Amino acid sequence: MPSYRIATPADPAPCWAMRTDALRVGCATHYPPATVEALCAAAPPASMPGLFAAGGAIVAEEDGRIVGYAVLDRTSGEIDAVFVSPACQGRGIARRLLAGLEAMAAERGISHLFLSASLNAAPFYERAGFLHVRDALYRHRGGFFMASVYMEKQLALPAGTAALSGSGSDAPPGRR
Ligand SMILES: CC(C)(COP(=O)(O)OP(=O)(O)OC[C@H]1O[C@@H](n2cnc3c(N)ncnc32)[C@H](O)[C@@H]1OP(=O)(O)O)[C@@H](O)C(=O)NCCC(=O)NCCS
Repeated sequence: MPSYRIATPADPAPCWAMRTDALRVGCATHYPPATVEALCAAAPPASMPGLFAAGGAIVAEEDGRIVGYAVLDRTSGEIDAVFVSPACQGRGIARRLLAGLEAMAAERGISHLFLSASLNAAPFYERAGFLHVRDALYRHRGGFFMASVYMEKQLALPAGTAALSGSGSDAPPGRR
């Protein structure tokens, strides 16, 4: 049974290694091998340490290993990442991680969440109440393009919480 905690500045490296395993398996069903390999070869985005240090990431741990993580950009409301180790998928870990990000967002008055989902992950987000807004072509910082889905979810904030404005639907897509 995994446990969940707010990520620390020490977590980006093991999370990135796990994310690469998850992409290699998950994206292989929807993208050509060259795209999967380019994704797997990518270095972490420059924003990753800052998002973790800001307290916007949650990790799932089991037997001393990170088996999942999720990241919220708490300035814009973008879901920056949700990844679960291939061996641990299908157990509700991503659902719990995403629910944790939604609670984090609601506490901060962020009512509008958005992301650019890979084609393989879009059904997971739909299951979690995100709307498929439009098909998109995502330009990876590695210089290649991949099909994706721009998705949004409107959160109901607790009574008395002041809503902050996010970046809206014209914001740039997430980082993989
Ligand atoms: C997508 C991903 C995060 C899902 O993780 P997971 O822990 O297996 O998901 P969960 O077990 O929490 O699933 C929650 C619900 O979503 C559904 N779901 C999860 N992945 C799904 C998929 N690929 N297609 C359809 N439904 C899916 C589950 O059936 C479950 O439904 P339920 O509420 O009826 O039980 C994981 O498969 C992954 O890391 N994939 C590769 C990486 C990736 O592409 N990440 C996203 C980048 S934007």
